[in-house]
Amino acid sequence: MPSSEDKKLRHVGFIMDGNGRWAKRRNKPRTFGHKKGADAIIGVLEECFDSGVEVVSLYAFSTENWSRPKEEIDAIFDLLSTFLKKYSKKLFEKKSRLLISGDLTPISKTLRERCEKLMADTAHFTEHVLNIALNYGSRNEIVRAVNLLKDKQGEISEEDISNNLYTKGLPDIDLVVRTSGEKRLSNFFLWQCAYAEFYFTDVLWPDFNKEETKKALDWFYGRKRRFGGIENA
Ligand code: IPE
Ligand code: IPE
Ligand code: MG
Repeated sequence: MPSSEDKKLRHVGFIMDGNGRWAKRRNKPRTFGHKKGADAIIGVLEECFDSGVEVVSLYAFSTENWSRPKEEIDAIFDLLSTFLKKYSKKLFEKKSRLLISGDLTPISKTLRERCEKLMADTAHFTEHVLNIALNYGSRNEIVRAVNLLKDKQGEISEEDISNNLYTKGLPDIDLVVRTSGEKRLSNFFLWQCAYAEFYFTDVLWPDFNKEETKKALDWFYGRKRRFGGIENA
C-alpha cells in the first residue's frame, strides 16, 4: 500500500490489448474476444476505484483502429454502447464522472448521444473519473490543443497545453498497464504519461481480472519514483 506521497496512485491508464489473439487461440472470431474484453472491464474498474484510485483511463479505440474491417469496428462500438448502458448505474452509485477523450464526430449518432448525455449527467461528480479514450490519438490531441491556443497572446506554457487537452483538470497518469505482451504506447496519452510507470504483462485483456489488476497496482507501490531528483534528498 502507499507509504508516502510519491507512492500515491491517482491515475491509472489501461491499454486493453490482446482481444483478437485471445479469440484466435480459441478458434473464435475476433469480435468474440472483444465481447470477453468488454466483460473484463467492470472488475478492473471495481478493483481500481475500491483501492482509492481517482481516475481510470481506458484505451477503447484509437485513431489508427479505423484501419480494421468495418464489421470489427461496428462490433467494438456496439460493445462500448452496451457497456455504457450497463455501467451508467455504477457511475451514479459511485459518484463517478464519465469523460470521453477523443473526437466523437465520426461515431454513430446513437453512441455519440449516449456518451454526450452520460458525460453531461455525471459532470458534477468528483469521487472518481472514468476516462474512455475513444477515437483517440495523443498526437491528434496535442495538435488540437495547439490549435485551440492559436489566438492566445504571448508564449504558450505547459499549463496552457494541459488545459486544452481532453484530460483538462485531471492528474497526470501515474501507471500505465498494457496487456498482451506488447511494449509500446500506441499513441496513448503521451503528454499525460511524461512521468508514468509502465507495467507490461503477457496476460491477454479478456483474462485480465481483479487479481491481475491488484498485481499491477501492488507492483506500482514497489516502484521508486524520483521525478528527476535523487532518493532521500
Ligand atoms: C485490443 O485488442 C482492443 C482494441 C484495439 C479495440 P486487439 O483487437 O488489438 O487484439 P490483438 O492485439 O489483435 O490480439
Ligand atoms: C492499442 O492497441 C489501441 C487500443 C487498445 C484501443 P492496438 O492493438 O491497436 O495497438 P498496436 O496496433 O498493436 O500498436
Ligand atoms: Mg492489439
